[in-house]
Amino acid sequence: MSNFSAVELIIAKRDGAELSTEAIDWLIANYTSGVVADEQMSSMAMAILLNGMNRREIRDMTLAMIASGERLDFSTLSQPTADKHSTGGVGDKITLTLAPLVACFGVAVPQLSGRGLGHTGGTLDKLEAIPGWRANLSNAEMHAQLDRVGAVICAAGSGLAPADKKLYALRDVTGTVEAIPLIASSIMSKKIAEGTASLVLDVKVGSGAFMKNIDRARELATVLVQLGNDAGVNTSAMLTDMSTPLGRKIGNALEVEESVEVLAGGGPSDVIELTVELAREMLRLAGKGDVDVAAALNDGRAMDKWNEMISAQGGDPKAKLAVAKESHVVTASSTGILTQLDALAVGVASWRLGAGRERKEDAVQFGAGVVLHAQQGDHVVAGQPLLTLHTDEPARFDRALASLDGGITIDASAVSKPRQILLDRVTA
Ligand code: URA
Repeated sequence: MSNFSAVELIIAKRDGAELSTEAIDWLIANYTSGVVADEQMSSMAMAILLNGMNRREIRDMTLAMIASGERLDFSTLSQPTADKHSTGGVGDKITLTLAPLVACFGVAVPQLSGRGLGHTGGTLDKLEAIPGWRANLSNAEMHAQLDRVGAVICAAGSGLAPADKKLYALRDVTGTVEAIPLIASSIMSKKIAEGTASLVLDVKVGSGAFMKNIDRARELATVLVQLGNDAGVNTSAMLTDMSTPLGRKIGNALEVEESVEVLAGGGPSDVIELTVELAREMLRLAGKGDVDVAAALNDGRAMDKWNEMISAQGGDPKAKLAVAKESHVVTASSTGILTQLDALAVGVASWRLGAGRERKEDAVQFGAGVVLHAQQGDHVVAGQPLLTLHTDEPARFDRALASLDGGITIDASAVSKPRQILLDRVTA
């Protein structure tokens, strides 16, 4: 590998130059091994945030991060593979309903997930609310479960894109999380290394999401889709609403409970709609066009697959889930249309109740969270329960309530508009 100087590369990007493929390979390999120091990489991240990267540079950055670790290979499975990645939202439990649903149609779902940090929940934290369920599988166990059950949700091992792990932690503390080239290469290096043949990206838009407006979300989605397709992964994206939480339950055990309601043919219409739309798209990309996806939610097939998937990882799908010790009801202050039930406000409330963690090493409370008794757009009457806060520690109520300040609006003269979940699609 050619030799470069980190300082010269930082100066080049600072002054708006393109970095060559060789320079990017060198930078990422040497940052991973510790030759390029954290302070140099944080300066580079800021130069990228300010001056951007072109399509070729972003692709090189992604490939270099993939090359920093192992790459999984599911090409020997008898079924095609498809996965979904969400950029994260409040009440976003869709992975739980989607993986077993898609697996019902002969497409295997290898879903490597993470834990929550901040106001968005992590899929692994939710599933760990199920007694006995195990997040850490070896690559061989993952392969065997995909072969036998057709769906696996587990923790990404430390061998996958280690450059991203290091860089993400650095971005988190240097104000450089928001750079689209860095977000895109971070997400796609992990997804491409994971070895899925098809990928649907659920790019969230709104207060509870990374991307607060649709133009930025579309820009990110376009870069993600290009990266996937350039790397030979059949990729498309959906832009979906995250101005208000998904579903009526937010929190770890609460979200498992709501997912099971959907798998049993019930549950809130927004969760059903997004599950079905994403499942259709995954199946389309995997070459299974014309199937009645919703039927598998209603006739028990998706539930059977869920039970199989949970049991395969030691979980007891029939076990009672944790219930928080204390609750507090928030009522409507007036009568009218609930025009705002802000995703970020509810997400932060749930986090402060103990559903999320402050630091990586904190434990989460499985029973903590928020249950909505009305959703944005509903007509509510003064005094009726709007939401219930749940936690094991009543001292947490005050800070959770403070986060709801300004996040709830009731308008007596507004007319109700149905929620539009799917805002746009981005295909290759
Ligand atoms: N998710 C990731 O994995 N990386 C980012 O940079 C942002 C969201």
